[in-house]
Amino acid sequence: RTARLLGVPLDLGANRRGVDMGPSAIRYADVAAELAAAGVDCIDDGDLEVPRLETSSPAPASGVNDSDSNTNTNSNSNTNTNTNSNSNSNSNTNAKYLDDIGGVTATLADAVAATVDDDTTPLVLGGDHAVAMGSMFGSGRGTDNGIGVIWFDAHGDYNTPATSPSGNVHGMPLAAAHGRGSFADLDWADTDAVSEENTVLVGIRSLDDEERAALRESEATVFTMREIDERGITAVVEDALEIATDGVDGIHVSLDLDWLDPTVVPGVGTPVRGGVNYREAHAALELVAERDREADILRSMDVVEVNPILDRDNQTAEVAAELAASAFGKRIL
Ligand code: ARG
Ligand code: MN
Ligand code: MN
Ligand code: MN
Repeated sequence: RTARLLGVPLDLGANRRGVDMGPSAIRYADVAAELAAAGVDCIDDGDLEVPRLETSSPAPASGVNDSDSNTNTNSNSNTNTNTNSNSNSNSNTNAKYLDDIGGVTATLADAVAATVDDDTTPLVLGGDHAVAMGSMFGSGRGTDNGIGVIWFDAHGDYNTPATSPSGNVHGMPLAAAHGRGSFADLDWADTDAVSEENTVLVGIRSLDDEERAALRESEATVFTMREIDERGITAVVEDALEIATDGVDGIHVSLDLDWLDPTVVPGVGTPVRGGVNYREAHAALELVAERDREADILRSMDVVEVNPILDRDNQTAEVAAELAASAFGKRIL
């Protein structure tokens, strides 16, 4: 197998600066050597060009939103305050930098699609979780049945511009893939790429109210931390693989590092207590590799939300590199 590294130093979708340095940190953690240990040849395509927050406007996409009364051009400070949080759930304006993020998504989707066509496996290095839109749209492009997705995350990332309490697009990529809300109207959002019923979220422990309601009525399967507590990580991930791979042309694996417990990965912008531990995480991704060995299911993967500024000694980036290697087939014996 050959993997192609695609770095996407995007931070426009997150509310904390620093996640744009994720690709560098993961490379510094020697992801190439980790993949080599998995028997994978690794081509590094470098980083996509990404608009910088300093020169971008948070104003959302024109034509999609009917009012801009909730956007706040001062919101691009590196504070944690949600300056355009609002209680008007009918507002469509609440998706910061959506125009710029859409441009990055389109570019990344092309790169991912070309990589898959080339019989190589894209490993997308984030950047915030908004990059997963490009990964998924590109990975599913041209498939007959779409792709399944396994979403390893503390969060559902199932908000839409209308439901997001934060306006941060990294809380929306899975809803975008399912064409929910105003994402259905965006030309760069390929809502056929991902099969909703083959979408499985694993390890979830933080949902916003409207996001929870949307997930409950969706065809996606949600395994919360409770299921992992009750049944164990391996049983849950076996189920996830069964559901995600059923009748599709392969799966995308999206790994948000905040899936793990913050004691293991301090370098994430939206930590949530009570995540999986280091061994559970490896067990999960080793099961992905095992299934891939049997049935060639892994089309693409991303590792996202590594924030070196918040990290200690690059350990979150190291965990990201190691877990990617497990998914690509690294074994102890
Ligand atoms: N649900 C919250 C929001 O919509 C947090 C999302 C965090 N997402 C992530 N990819 N870290 O803002
Ligand atoms: Mn998350
Ligand atoms: Mn469907
Ligand atoms: Mn996420």
